[in-house]
Amino acid sequence: MTITALIVAAGRGTRAGGDVPKQWQMLGAGRVIDHTLSAFQTHPDVDQIVVVLHPEDVTRADMFRTQGIKVAMGGADRAGSVRNGLDACGDVEHVLIHDAARPCVSSMVISGVIMALKKAHAAAPGLAVTDALWQGDGSKVTGTQSRDGLFAAQTPQGFALATIRAAHDAYNGPAADDVEVARAAGITVVMTQGDPDNLKITTADDFARATRILERQMDIRTGNGFDVHAFGPGDHVTLCGVNIPHDQGLVGHSDADVGMHTVTDAIYGALAMGDIGQHFPPSDPQWKGAESHIFLRHAVGLATKMGFTLTHVDCTLICEHPKVGPHAVEMRQVMAGILGIDMARVSVKATTSERLGFTGRGEGIACMATATLVKT
Ligand code: CTP
Ligand code: MG
Repeated sequence: MTITALIVAAGRGTRAGGDVPKQWQMLGAGRVIDHTLSAFQTHPDVDQIVVVLHPEDVTRADMFRTQGIKVAMGGADRAGSVRNGLDACGDVEHVLIHDAARPCVSSMVISGVIMALKKAHAAAPGLAVTDALWQGDGSKVTGTQSRDGLFAAQTPQGFALATIRAAHDAYNGPAADDVEVARAAGITVVMTQGDPDNLKITTADDFARATRILERQMDIRTGNGFDVHAFGPGDHVTLCGVNIPHDQGLVGHSDADVGMHTVTDAIYGALAMGDIGQHFPPSDPQWKGAESHIFLRHAVGLATKMGFTLTHVDCTLICEHPKVGPHAVEMRQVMAGILGIDMARVSVKATTSERLGFTGRGEGIACMATATLVKT
């Protein structure tokens, strides 16, 4: 399944006002469109991004092209912009058509549409209407309307590319969105779970709400870990999953991999979910001699379950001997494999304590680590 995100950003934002159209206005730390693009750039299933710009905004095209984003020119109305964008998609199977004006779209909403596209030609998020509905003329209520079976339409709206292209070719007149175009061509559209936070910035008031939502969504956590193991009889030590020949071993209930234990604790710390001893009590005989990757995998699994992605680990081993430097690359490789992240996001380094203290006297190895987790 190859997926293109088609972001329509060619409107003029007349209802929102401001010096520039709403997609170019600031929202927290970035412009509205930056947040929207980031939601798709960071989604693991999205392969390509096409952004549709108004011809007056053509000078802004280069900054997108340098990020590997394709640029198409907008049409007279939203449907026209979508048509031009579809033509720029190239040879892909599926397209997710999304309003640039919806910068708070979550990865859950995007994933919901992608999942539905595995079984259907068209899928889009809807949100059941919960408020009572009235008819009115702006000054008084002129009637009431049942909300039964009514849903607010959201984007991204996902389609098999060939299907939506044919539907747009056959369509005449204005359309609120692509679901309307698809339905006019007789295509069944599966409804996926929408999200109240996936608002479309329409008026100036919406900026404040979107800012609050984005601030709430940004959950970045740092955890630290510290561990010590004493030297004892043996002919090797295991550090960050790598066996290093040494004239002593490390004493511990498990394989005594002080590096991996510390990183594991750093992840638990970021999650505020206790420590390694709590999850794997040393009093429990089943963990005797256990390989430490079991503990590390548990911590990463817990992070995933709680909706976090591990983005970085930094681990410092403190000892006089053995020398860690020659093994650091292999340690990073092994840990990256277990953590399921790129090796460039795993740091292993070492220091001596200048012959001071217990590590200086060669009584054991200490380790400290930091883990960074981001809510996804
Ligand atoms: N859009 C577009 N091309 C158009 C009109 C709209 O690409 N000719 C895009 C907008 O940039 C927006 C999305 O379609 O991301 C939804 O449209 P809307 O919220 O109506 O935005 P605007 O048309 O920009 O706003 P307004 O209607 O207030 O002028
Ligand atoms: Mg509009």
